[in-house]
Amino acid sequence: MKKTIIITGGAGFIGSHVVRRFVQNYPSYTVVNIDALTYAGNLENVKDIEQASNYIFEKVDITNAKAIFDLFEKYKPDGIIHLAAESHVDRSITNPLEFVMTNVIGTVNLLNAAKELWKEDFSNKLFHHVSTDEVYGALGSEGLFTEETSYDPHSPYSASKASSDHFVRAYADTYGLPIVITNCSNNYGPNHFPEKLIPLCIHNIIHNKPLPIYGDGKYTRDWLFVIDHARAIDDVFHKAEKGATYNVGGFNEWQNIDLVNELCRQMDEKLGREVGASAKLITFVKDRPGHDLRYAIDANKIKAELGWEPSVTFQEGLSLTIDWYLSNDEWLKNVTSGDYQKYYTNQYN
Ligand code: NAD
Ligand code: TYD
Repeated sequence: MKKTIIITGGAGFIGSHVVRRFVQNYPSYTVVNIDALTYAGNLENVKDIEQASNYIFEKVDITNAKAIFDLFEKYKPDGIIHLAAESHVDRSITNPLEFVMTNVIGTVNLLNAAKELWKEDFSNKLFHHVSTDEVYGALGSEGLFTEETSYDPHSPYSASKASSDHFVRAYADTYGLPIVITNCSNNYGPNHFPEKLIPLCIHNIIHNKPLPIYGDGKYTRDWLFVIDHARAIDDVFHKAEKGATYNVGGFNEWQNIDLVNELCRQMDEKLGREVGASAKLITFVKDRPGHDLRYAIDANKIKAELGWEPSVTFQEGLSLTIDWYLSNDEWLKNVTSGDYQKYYTNQYN
């Protein structure tokens, strides 16, 4: 079936994998990638598909309501997959307002544009909002987040994502806008900006720099390979009932310190370093304020209803990820020059 889909944030980490999947798997769809190309957006992430005949890129900031309305008028999309966001918790602690602007106002601009464009007929239309498990807050050592868990965000990032989720549901309840929401756990994989734990540590191991572990390192996250997240988004976009929410996760919990040790082990092997060499770089540093102890997802609903489950184990996914960074040193060099150095110094010194 012919369709036009707008994917926001398609030059970022997860968005680039979603754009690639839709461009390659759905040749009858026109995929319009909208991205403001902030520090986290990088067209190199979608270089391999930029010549595809069903792919269009538009540099647009979602906080600009007029530009978003014009773009919706121009392309008349049947579907939106919304990933554009400020996504890093530590940056949200330094600059919360930017997170309100993009994650809340930007989302409402997209909702308004979709509502206006589709107002005559909502059938065969869909607004898919991509969100995070961080909206549910923090778990103790027991339990899992389900789709029924109450929202309890703690960081400015998670508060802004929670707010955007509420707006998406409010537009469904108030105006009948056809929506779905996915709340996913921590992703890892190729093209991940090296401000987040795994790519930051890969970068630092390569350069023999300290690996900064916040607090005691016992904080726990569930990790999912990014390509499996893109598969989940595809499944939910095509198969979910309107109004549904799905939690997406890897059934794969790690304490940060164990994860970084495993990363060091695999990297020592790949780099031909002596056993234990990279782990010596581990350095415990000042904790993140308001640091959530544990996130863990119950992803059984998407598994039971849509037949989705992770396709790679963590060992496989981590190995693929390290290999990607080792063979894309130009990409890594480009994203860690200039502003990144300033960010790194402010954050860690
Ligand atoms: P990212 O930071 O790598 O990419 C975000 C993209 O959005 C970038 O390309 C950036 O240029 C673009 N963007 C930012 N502000 C914009 C604006 N005002 N207008 C247009 N584009 C803008 O983020 P990511 O890790 O790929 O996350 C994508 C989405 O998935 C986010 O909504 C995030 O909340 C969600 N999510 C991320 C994770 C994770 O582990 N990374 C987990 C669950 C959910
Ligand atoms: P991060 O990748 O920032 O994702 P999130 O905060 O969204 O879960 O961090 C993952 C975990 O790693 C989190 O518990 C914070 C911790 N962490 C460190 O210990 N050191 C670091 O330098 C970073 C960036 C994160």
